[in-house]
Amino acid sequence: MKLKKFVFLLSLAAISAQAEDIVISTDSNALVYNVADNGRVYQKYFGKKLANPADYAAIPNGPEIYITSGMEDYYEPALHIVHADGNPSTLLTYTGHKTSTLADGAKQTVISMTDKAYGDMVDVYFIAYPEHDIIKTYTTVTNGEKKPIELEKYASSMLHFDNGDYYLTQFNGDWASEANAKETKLEYGRKQLDTKLGARANMFCSPFFQLGIDSPAAENSGNLLVGTLGWTGNYRFTFEVDHKGELRVISGINPYASRRKLGKGETFTTPEFIFTLSDAGRGKASRNFHDWARDHQLYKGNDTRMTLLNNWEATYFDFDEDKLIKLIGEAKDLGVDMFLLDDGWFGNKYPRHSDTQGLGDWDETKNKLPNGIGALTAAAKKNGVKFGLWIEPEMVNPKSELYEQHKDWVITLPNRDEYYFRNQLVLDLSNPKVQDYVFGVVDGLMTKYPDIAFFKWDCNSPITNIYSNYEKMDQNHLYVDYVNGLYNVLERIQKKYPDLLMMMCSGGGGRSDYEGLKYFTEFWPSDNTDPIERLYIQWGFSQIFPAKTLCAHVTTWNRSTPVKFRTNVAMMGKLGFDLKLDDLTEEEADYCRRAIKNYNALKPVILEGDQYRLVSPYEGEHAATMYVGKKDGDAVLFTFDIYPRYRQTISKAESNVKLNGLVPSARYAVTEIDRADGNDSKVGEYSGEYLMTVGLPLFTLNKLNSRVFSIKKM
Ligand code: DGJ
Repeated sequence: MKLKKFVFLLSLAAISAQAEDIVISTDSNALVYNVADNGRVYQKYFGKKLANPADYAAIPNGPEIYITSGMEDYYEPALHIVHADGNPSTLLTYTGHKTSTLADGAKQTVISMTDKAYGDMVDVYFIAYPEHDIIKTYTTVTNGEKKPIELEKYASSMLHFDNGDYYLTQFNGDWASEANAKETKLEYGRKQLDTKLGARANMFCSPFFQLGIDSPAAENSGNLLVGTLGWTGNYRFTFEVDHKGELRVISGINPYASRRKLGKGETFTTPEFIFTLSDAGRGKASRNFHDWARDHQLYKGNDTRMTLLNNWEATYFDFDEDKLIKLIGEAKDLGVDMFLLDDGWFGNKYPRHSDTQGLGDWDETKNKLPNGIGALTAAAKKNGVKFGLWIEPEMVNPKSELYEQHKDWVITLPNRDEYYFRNQLVLDLSNPKVQDYVFGVVDGLMTKYPDIAFFKWDCNSPITNIYSNYEKMDQNHLYVDYVNGLYNVLERIQKKYPDLLMMMCSGGGGRSDYEGLKYFTEFWPSDNTDPIERLYIQWGFSQIFPAKTLCAHVTTWNRSTPVKFRTNVAMMGKLGFDLKLDDLTEEEADYCRRAIKNYNALKPVILEGDQYRLVSPYEGEHAATMYVGKKDGDAVLFTFDIYPRYRQTISKAESNVKLNGLVPSARYAVTEIDRADGNDSKVGEYSGEYLMTVGLPLFTLNKLNSRVFSIKKM
């Protein structure tokens, strides 16, 4: 990393001796602030950690830590307060800083500032995870005035760069086409990635980005900032390049329609912006995130995950008790850990025979399930598999008893016709009574059926018709208070049912953020399970989420792909099946049984190991990813040949896959496993150096071909 490039030019606003440096560091990086003689706090350095902290003193100050509105800056501020007297400007000066070690070993630094003229207080928190090179940061704003103030903008974080060239990779798409990576060079002006969808917040754009510093992002080289916001709602990332070529990155809740009133003495806490700085490209940044998430953020982050059979694509809404019991038997026959009953099991006045009705009425449909969920949990128990259940408790269909009884609990506008997304509306989680109701959905089911081991928690609609009918509600607070209401419910569930596992689902990847994953063990990246599409979608999400969070199911999408290809793609995440045995030939079913056994044996490497993306599907007609186990260094490699063209040839260079993450001096035995014929096939024995430098000719010209290799340290 060229240190020079990270050193900020002297800022006119901050010509002063460096009174005090505040160093926030991880094992590799440092973010340094300085309190100048004028009492204001400036970012002076963000880059590779220097061995001698005293050396930071020589670096001149850069822009202010958390630029406020109305002062001498001409670009986007992080904070915009309208004071009680209407003054729209804020001037923050340092009042102190504190460092401490948190219970999980993280190092916390809090920099406190105040606006002396008004008494409002701002604390910027940094929580550093040294060994993972991850820093979380958030801000609190406290009203120190006698009357209410209003926050127009209240970012979680502001980071500054002075490198000249910046390349932003965003991950956007739509339903069934999530997390497509696109890189663009940032030029003068402002680029924003944001969402205004409220509930299914990430349907069009995932809440994370990569920023290539100096050069476009590469997999294994180059300086890169990777950041994400832990917020299951509207977010906004602002990237603004000014006339001097300096870049500010502002991350936080989207202030759109969310002006925040703060009463006297009240504090607003922003969500966490989580980031890493990599000097070795995307791969290293991903592994930083994966390790940190397993150790510190993800619910049951270091536990393994269950394989499952889900009935959604096997039956859709068309099932009864007999069909489900047959499927539970098939779950056992396949050898998965759990059967998951999806949408369509509830509603009596308005039975859930399609997505047009029933949401909100969480009683089993009598003529479909005369013996209730209990008969199914009993069947699961008998077959030695766990039982999971689909719910969508934040939502309501207008055709439901809940809507008839509690229209006041529904987010819907007065004096307007309702419009629907997937025929449904969103319940008002800003209302504590609604929070009790949503908690009660889970609590009621768990009390009645304690054998439920897992919930798939769906959320298929954005917030439409935005208006709260809760009498205490400030309408500008609804988007934010909705999310806090959701966290309140999830917190209560986790406290009461600590062993309950849950999948975060939102019609696919409509929810995919790290605050949500404090409560969920995994998420559903996309309804699109065509394995070719999944190669891209999983590639996108793997940039910050570890394999164990990415639910990946084998289904009948794109039947032109061999079942083995579909299964191998799904084995790169949290493996599941969403089909019935009738969808498979006997030979295919046998393959699946063996694949599940293989997956179980490989789980410690895939789910807990270091992931190396070797060959990108974005670059051609092949893809390869490998995982290296942390304990013994054994690895597993997946290779895919997608669509070679008629009469295409493949050069030696193209066919060669160079491995990564191995010990150069160690020797490895490479074996092709998980073959369709059931026989393993020895490839050879090589040094780690050979495998990483020369590589093996593993790609072929066979269409839709997938291969799995075990790489065992000898
Ligand atoms: C959307 C989910 O993504 C699907 O997997 C399925 O659960 C349906 N909802 C059910 O309505």
